[in-house]
Amino acid sequence: MGEPMLQGKTVVLGVSGGIAVYKAVELLRLLTKSGAQVHVIMTKNAQEFVTPLTFQTLSGNPVHTDLFSLYQEQEIGHISLADQADLFVLAPATANLIGKIAHGLADDLLTTSVMATKAPVLVVPAMNSNMYENPLYQRNEKLLAEAGYRIMEPVTGELACGWQGKGKLPEPEQILGVATGVLLPNDLLGCQILVTAGPTREEIDPVRYLTNYSSGKMGFAIAQAAAARGAAVTLVSGPTNLQVPNGVKCVPVISAEQMREAVLANYSVTDVVVKAAAVADYRPACREDNKIKKAADELTLSLEKNSDILSELGAQKGERILVGFAAETERLLTHAAEKLQRKNLDMVVANDVTSTGAGFDVDTNIVRFLFADGCVEELGLMTKAQVANQLLDRVVTLRQAKQQ
Ligand code: CTP
Repeated sequence: MGEPMLQGKTVVLGVSGGIAVYKAVELLRLLTKSGAQVHVIMTKNAQEFVTPLTFQTLSGNPVHTDLFSLYQEQEIGHISLADQADLFVLAPATANLIGKIAHGLADDLLTTSVMATKAPVLVVPAMNSNMYENPLYQRNEKLLAEAGYRIMEPVTGELACGWQGKGKLPEPEQILGVATGVLLPNDLLGCQILVTAGPTREEIDPVRYLTNYSSGKMGFAIAQAAAARGAAVTLVSGPTNLQVPNGVKCVPVISAEQMREAVLANYSVTDVVVKAAAVADYRPACREDNKIKKAADELTLSLEKNSDILSELGAQKGERILVGFAAETERLLTHAAEKLQRKNLDMVVANDVTSTGAGFDVDTNIVRFLFADGCVEELGLMTKAQVANQLLDRVVTLRQAKQQ
């Protein structure tokens, strides 16, 4: 679903020689699956455990092994690898590698690149537990930490050498989690966000319902991006085919009334609400218990109004930030501005669902942001993940302004 979280990020994965190299293969797979471009640098010893070909095949990029390879230097070079990286991950990092970096030694491609980079470096040590506890090693690790390198503690368990103790490489999923935290801003940490997504279904009888074209993609992209930025996210979603993003609490609902109940139940602990759901404005006045049979030539359905959830939230807003959506087919700005005011919102995301690349069931959107102070911002065609992050950037600014 959506755009992979690490899309556009470049990671250099530095692999040094230890039995845990096989786990670095899995880490590489997870990083590329998350959308990152990964360049692998292997030390000479690492190549004794797994061949560069494995890393090359999985990363889709040449593996770098040699400081003095003319071909590699021409193609990319250790300096340009160091420059391109948004993050270096050293996994597994041996005692030897950590010792060398701690003392400013740069005698191969990996140590040279680490020294040349200004990107954050995540060091994930793995070694025998006695080596790990050795005071000389501990001193080197401390030197790295003091110099701003991020160290991920090894875990305790059975080691490859048969020993029991601290020194195991953490699981690749955990390393990915920490790496993601370093790569993405954490500016929503401590913030409770409630996002609504998808359509609602209003039942006519046991086999029929009224709904709309909403796919839920925009709301899910917002929930995913907010969680990645540190927020605690509750996603109240109507029926969709989408997978709930990692770290997001999902409350599935069907009808507008169920959505209202779920939203109100969570409102008291919420700091920010983003209402991306396309809520049905009306429901059948009476839901038939049995299937309506075909009879007369004409059938009139009587509808009654659903409550406007966002207006209800607006009326009891307090210090919260409320963001609404306005999907329109004409007079976009007028309608969006009217909703902003009527529902007491801080921001409205307006989109003309008739234009190509915007609206339902596509991965892109063209939106404008309208703010309570009358400002309007026009954003070009973007992926829904990009729109989500732009929206959250504005939420962060609005929060800062409120907290002052
Ligand atoms: N909304 C809501 N509850 C409703 C209807 C809409 O919370 N019963 C929210 C939507 O989630 C969206 C915003 O209000 O964030 C605007 O929804 P929209 O359907 O565009 O606006 P309406 O107020 O229903 O106006 P209209 O349908 O006349 O355009």
